[in-house]
Parts: sequence; C-alpha cells; structure tokens
Amino acid sequence: MGRLCSVFLIFSSILIFGGHYFEGGSATTVTYDSKALVIDGKRRLLFSGSIHYPRSTPEVWPELIRKSKEGGLDVIESYVFWNYHEPVRGQYYFEGRFDLVKFVKMVQEAGLFVHLRIGPYACAEWNYGGFPMWLHFIPGIQFRTTNSLFKNEMERFLVKIVTLMKEQNLFASQGGPIILSQVENEYGNVEWAYGIGGALYVQWAASTAVALNTTVPWVMCQQEDAPDPIINTCNGFYCDRFTPNSASKPKMWTESYSGWFLSFGYAIPYRPVEDLAFSVARFFETGGTFQNYYMYFGGTNFGRTAGGPLVATSYDYDAPIDEYGFLRQPKWSHLRDLHKAIKICEDYLVNLDPTYMSIGSNLEAHIYNGTAGCAAFLANIDHSLDANVSFNGNLYTLPAWSVSILPDCKNVIFNTAKVVSQKSTAGSSHQHKVNKEYFLESSAWQWYKEQVGTQYNNSFVAPGLLEQINTTRDISDYLWYSISINVNEEAKEVFLHIGSLGHAALLFINKRLEGFGYGDHDDANFTIDKQIKLNQGNNSLELLSMMVGLQNYGPWFDIAGAGIYLVTLDAVEDLSVREWTYQVGTEGEYLGLDNVNHANSSVWSSGNLLPTNQSLIWYKKEMVHWH
Ligand SMILES: *[C@@H]1O[C@H](CO)[C@@H](O)[C@H](O)[C@H]1NC(C)=O
Ligand SMILES: *[C@@H]1O[C@H](CO)[C@@H](O)[C@H](O)[C@H]1NC(C)=O
Ligand SMILES: *[C@@H]1O[C@H](CO)[C@@H](O)[C@H](O)[C@H]1NC(C)=O
Ligand SMILES: *[C@@H]1O[C@H](CO)[C@@H](O)[C@H](O)[C@H]1NC(C)=O
Ligand SMILES: *[C@@H]1O[C@H](CO)[C@@H](O)[C@H](O)[C@H]1NC(C)=O
Ligand SMILES: *[C@@H]1O[C@H](CO)[C@@H](O)[C@H](O)[C@H]1NC(C)=O
Ligand SMILES: *[C@@H]1O[C@H](CO)[C@@H](O)[C@H](O)[C@H]1NC(C)=O
Ligand SMILES: *[C@@H]1O[C@H](CO)[C@@H](O)[C@H](O)[C@H]1NC(C)=O
Ligand SMILES: *[C@@H]1O[C@H](CO)[C@@H](O)[C@H](O)[C@H]1NC(C)=O
Repeated sequence: MGRLCSVFLIFSSILIFGGHYFEGGSATTVTYDSKALVIDGKRRLLFSGSIHYPRSTPEVWPELIRKSKEGGLDVIESYVFWNYHEPVRGQYYFEGRFDLVKFVKMVQEAGLFVHLRIGPYACAEWNYGGFPMWLHFIPGIQFRTTNSLFKNEMERFLVKIVTLMKEQNLFASQGGPIILSQVENEYGNVEWAYGIGGALYVQWAASTAVALNTTVPWVMCQQEDAPDPIINTCNGFYCDRFTPNSASKPKMWTESYSGWFLSFGYAIPYRPVEDLAFSVARFFETGGTFQNYYMYFGGTNFGRTAGGPLVATSYDYDAPIDEYGFLRQPKWSHLRDLHKAIKICEDYLVNLDPTYMSIGSNLEAHIYNGTAGCAAFLANIDHSLDANVSFNGNLYTLPAWSVSILPDCKNVIFNTAKVVSQKSTAGSSHQHKVNKEYFLESSAWQWYKEQVGTQYNNSFVAPGLLEQINTTRDISDYLWYSISINVNEEAKEVFLHIGSLGHAALLFINKRLEGFGYGDHDDANFTIDKQIKLNQGNNSLELLSMMVGLQNYGPWFDIAGAGIYLVTLDAVEDLSVREWTYQVGTEGEYLGLDNVNHANSSVWSSGNLLPTNQSLIWYKKEMVHWH
C-alpha cells in the first residue's frame, strides 16, 4: 500500500502544476511526435471534453468549465458556428451565447486548454451543419468540394476566426489556451461522393489551414488521407484499433461518444458509464494519448439552432454534465476516477510503447515497462464471462468487458466495470439548488388561434409544387401550399395522395384538419394518404409543410430538398402541376407572436376555458423569475 500512496502523491503534484499552468499567460509551444502532443517540450496525456458555447449561456459557462476541470479534463473542445457568426455575408455576430472570445478566455482563466474546431463545417446536429443559408444561394456554388466559390468563402471565414483569435492572443504561442485546431470535419465519411473533387478539396483544406500559421497543430478527424503535417484523428464509440496515417503522428480520439443525440420519435439515448469507461481505458491501454468526450456537456438547441432532419431541442447527449448543468452520476464521478488512474500512468504512457501479452482467451495485458517503473492494463474483452487471470505473479479477477489499471504492474487502482461512486449526490444537490436559488411564478395561459389559409404581404402564386428550402430561405420553418379544387357534380369522396420530402405537414380541407404526416431523422420522406369528402363547388386544400431543422450531415446534404412534391386525386388527377398559392411563415410569426416584445399584444385571448385539441393554436405564459 505504501507504494500506492506515493503514486497518488505524484499525481496530485501534477494536478497542482496543471492548475497553475496559465497564470503567467506565457508563450507555450505546441508540437507533436509519434506518441503525443508535446507542450513546451513535454509529451502530454490529455483528457478533453466538448462543450459547445451556444448550447448554454455565458452565465453558466464558468460553472460548466469548473465541473469539467474537477472531472479531470485538461482541454475544452468546441466547434465554431459560422451561420450564427455571419448571418448575413460580411456582417459578423459574436455576442451573448455566440461570444466565442469570452468563452475561450473563460476556459483559459480556469487553467484549461482549448481545442478549436473551426471547420467551418461543424455537422454537430446544428442547423445546416453550421453553414449559412446565404452560401446556398451563391450561383454556381458547390459545398465541400473543389469549387472556387465555396473555397473562397470557406477561406474567408477561416481567416476571420484565426485573425480574431490572434488579435486576442488566444493561441498557445501567444500565451493563450488554444493548443489545437481542426479544419473541416469528418469529410472522410463522405469524400467518395465527391469524386476527384473530394481528394483535391482535402489537399486544399489542409494547405489553406497550415498557411494560416496558427502555430499549433491542426487535426482532420475521420480523414485517412489527411496530408502531413495534419493529424488524422478517430471519432467513434471505440477507437482502440485506430492508427494514424503516419508513424510520426500520435493516436488521438476527437469524438468519444458519451451517449448520442436525440431525434424526435426516438428513444432517449443512453450509454452506460461502464462501457464508456471501458472504451476510454482501452484507448489509453493501446497507446492513445488524447481523448475528447463528445459531449462532456451537451446542453440545449435554443431557438432554431437544431439540425435535422428532426433533431430534438434537447442536446443532453447522456453526457457527464446533464442538459441543466448538473453532474450526471455515477457517470461524472466514475470517469473522474478513471482519469485520475490513467494520469498516474502518464509518464509511462507517453514515453513507452506497450508490450502486448495474451493472458487467456479474450484476455489481454498491455505493459508499459521502463527503467523507472512499470504500469499495466489488464483487459477482459469478453462480453459476458468474468475471468480470473494471473499476471506478474499475482491473481486478478476481471469482470466481463472491463479493464483494470495497475500503475505499478501490481495493485489494481481502478476497474472500469466497478462503479463505486455515490449515485444519490446529484439528486439531492439538484433539489437543493432549485429550492434555494429559484422561485418561478407564472401567469395564466393566453392563446391565439391561427387562421388557416390567411395570406399576408408575401404570398404569391407559382406553377407547380416548389421546393421548400429554396422558397423559405429558412427565414421560417413553415410554408403553406394552397389550392382550390372545384367540383362540378355533387359532393363526392376522393382518395388524396400527398408526397413530401420532409419533414412534417398538416392537411386542411375546407379549413378543417384532415391529416398529419411526418418523417424521421433517418428518412424525412413521408406520404399522407386519405379518403376525403369534397363539396359541390369550391373546396380549399391547404398544406402546412414544416421543417424541423435543416439537414446537417451526409454527402451533398446542403442540396437535399424538403416540402411537398406530389399531390394526386384518385391516383389519376395530378394537382402537382397546377398553380399553387404560397405563403412563407405562419400568421403568428407574421404577427410577431414568437417575439417576446409582443408578449402583451392585444391579439392574445384569455379566459377560463383554455382551447385544447384544436390545430394551430399559439399558447403563451409569462414566467417571473426571482432570485
Ligand atoms: C508564423 O507566426 C509566428 C508567430 O507569430 C512567426 O514568428 C512566424 O514568422 C510566422 N511564420 C510565417 C511563415 O509567417
Ligand atoms: C519489467 O521489466 C523488468 C526488467 O526487465 C522485469 O524484471 C519485469 O519482470 C518486467 N515486468 C513485467 C510486469 O513484465
Ligand atoms: C475467481 O476466483 C474466485 C476466488 O477464488 C472465485 O470465487 C470465482 O468463482 C472465480 N471466478 C471465475 C470466473 O473463475
Ligand atoms: C411583410 O410584413 C412583415 C411584418 O410586418 C415585414 O417585416 C416584412 O418586411 C413584410 N414583407 C414585405 C415583402 O413587405
Ligand atoms: C424521398 O423521395 C424522393 C422522391 O420519391 C426520392 O427521390 C428520395 O430518394 C427519397 N429519399 C429517401 C431518403 O427515401
Ligand atoms: C373558386 O375559387 C377560385 C380561387 O379562389 C376563384 O377564382 C373562383 O372564382 C371560385 N369559384 C367559385 C364558383 O366560387
Ligand atoms: C434550389 O435552387 C437552386 C438554384 O437556386 C437549384 O440549383 C437547386 O436544385 C434547388 N434545390 C432544390 C432542392 O430544389
Ligand atoms: C407585459 O405586461 C406585464 C404586465 O403589465 C409586464 O409585467 C411585462 O413586463 C410586459 N411584458 C413585456 C414583454 O412587455
Ligand atoms: C380531439 O378531437 C378529435 C376530432 O376533432 C377527436 O376524435 C378526439 O377524440 C379528440 N381528443 C380529445 C382528447 O378530446
């Protein structure tokens, strides 16, 4: 036991050193070699976690960063969100939740490093993957390939962000916290779809990034053909089998999934911490030295920031810090203990190559044995069978699907399957906080009944069915498609078939709701098939087509369409080719009901009987928040 205690002492002195790292704000050099990132000449083993600054608010950033540091992280990672930073070409926005400089400085104040994934493609289940809508309307542009219009815009934004960071002295060489940057994102997953243009684009993105002279290494994740000196990194649930594309690059893991994102209609994702800890331990066991949790804190897709199709508002991700900023237990604590155990072995892991040894069927040992000492990882990779193994003259019990960490090749200080952290602490501190700090008082509900088929100042008529994104330009999620159907003979029943590219639609016949259809995240397409009754004379058919987040992933995702593309009656009469009347946005949006400044508008109704079970009603309630 004496040995073990001294090992812990070494660990705490490292921690103190880490905590004081940035107080001087002195220049730091960052390079890499085959084993690790090298900071001021010293190879480092680093734990990182993703926190996307606009998925929370500046008021809570310090607390999230503090909880990350207490959880054993060294680095905070974030994407940069082009569409919100440059909503109109040439007009920039860096305020509030989008105050990137403030966020990076807060991380620095906490003594942590930053990995800035500039992209500018983010994916991130973020609206349009982070691309601004105006980019789509540049004639002749093609995204993410060797198209000069796209490359010019992408380079302009890369320069903008790098310049901003340099002006604020935020790169490590300037005394700042940024030790790593990313260009593009997971392009290797879709490169095949872009032919030779894809390969050329990778070369261009790499050389453009390097030319920006950030003085810190660049990474491209999921990019096997990342050119030197860019480090290609792994994203995945497990990355122990990953090797970079050159022996001169370290083994790095930029997205280690703490859970998954939620889409409407799907089960809430959940990843047991035992499995997450197993995957992380296996990565370091097999020579990895940098690992980033995606997400460490997920947060919320505020406003219309969620990507699509049909990505949900919550971006909780089953992360170690939950959507509301509370520690998710036992996940957070178990991972903190894992980080401590691995950090104790840091000197061995960054300086030695492991020796692999089979210690039985599905049982592996990796030994880091050097002149100064010895650390070992014992792994049972069998899904269901526990095992007793003998190693280095001792007997160890290895639960199924687990890794034991032995910082002295003798004593087990951590096993990934043995969760010993208390489960109850999170719940009680949660209640404590809610009771103590907040008091919410709410007004009575008020409502507004949206009229079906109302046309405002921007309605227009066009032949055929228009594609939705090109029509709305994403200023609204909603597009009304209206047509009138004249029946000469008596009232009759017809079979109506509607095809939509996504994401959801309401069908009204003569202003009455008759149908509802929606797709899902994996296939936004859907149909509405319905026997309907038409009156003699004029009948109105109105479709309210809805987008639930612009697509953010996949080859050529930026030109995927949405909205109604087919309407037939009795399978023979094609209404698609007729003239349709269009209205972008809903009446409520036109009236500004979604705008807090209009909260007291006289259009709101109130009373004792709240209307329910009707289509298209806006509801409002004011919450008064006391401290
Ligand atoms: C890159 O930046 C560093 C630090 O500012 C500077 O010393 C160096 O000359 C620059 N290199 C090039 C090629 O511009
Ligand atoms: C580590 O190396 C030393 C010296 O070669 C050797 O005596 C020892 O058995 C090794 N330990 C393990 C666990 O392999
Ligand atoms: C491991 O050894 C312990 C103690 O001898 C025994 O109780 C247990 O059943 C063994 N487990 C396995 C999987 O062999
Ligand atoms: C339509 O009305 C809205 C709300 O009053 C206004 O913001 C918008 O500029 C108008 N559009 C046109 C084309 O007049
Ligand atoms: C959606 O429907 C369109 C039109 O039929 C088709 O071209 C497209 O492949 C479909 N997409 C999916 C994901 O099924
Ligand atoms: C039917 O509706 C269309 C379009 O609104 C209109 O032009 C036409 O006059 C109407 N016909 C009758 C008979 O009401
Ligand atoms: C949108 O319009 C552009 C031209 O502005 C066209 O190239 C593209 O195919 C359209 N997209 C869809 C999904 O129809
Ligand atoms: C609406 O009116 C209430 C009561 O007068 C007031 O407290 C509130 O601040 C107003 N809200 C807005 C957004 O103006
Ligand atoms: C809601 O209205 C529909 C028809 O308008 C009716 O079939 C349904 O039973 C109603 N549901 C409830 C919960 O009142």
